[in-house]
Amino acid sequence: MRGLRTSFHTRDGVVRAVDGIDFHVDRGEIMGLVGESGCGKSVTSLSIMGLVARPGRVEAGEVVFDGKDLLKLTARRCGGCAGTGSR
Ligand SMILES: Nc1ncnc2c1ncn2[C@@H]1O[C@H](COP(=O)(O)OP(=O)(O)O)[C@@H](O)[C@H]1O
Ligand SMILES: [Mg+2]
Repeated sequence: MRGLRTSFHTRDGVVRAVDGIDFHVDRGEIMGLVGESGCGKSVTSLSIMGLVARPGRVEAGEVVFDGKDLLKLTARRCGGCAGTGSR
């Protein structure tokens, strides 16, 4: 994951929920994401899975899995690559 930025464009203004997060997880490695309430853990996870709902959107960054940027794949081309733990 490099430079992920996910924002919510609300009537009251723009909420920068995640603003520039980078990390790397090796095959077989398990990573825990820890932080205070509201720091962006859930939005980070939803962004990886392509499940950010309006008025939120992923505005920048890349999530590379097996050489492919998951943020650029359509749901069909992703072919269930997220969520099952197997390929
Ligand atoms: N639908 C939404 N509309 C506006 N702001 C949101 C929405 N969802 C999350 N946020 C904001 O994004 C930030 C990160 O939220 P979240 O990822 O849920 O935090 P965590 O899971 O770390 O507790 C918070 O400031 C939260 O208020
Ligand atoms: Mg959460």
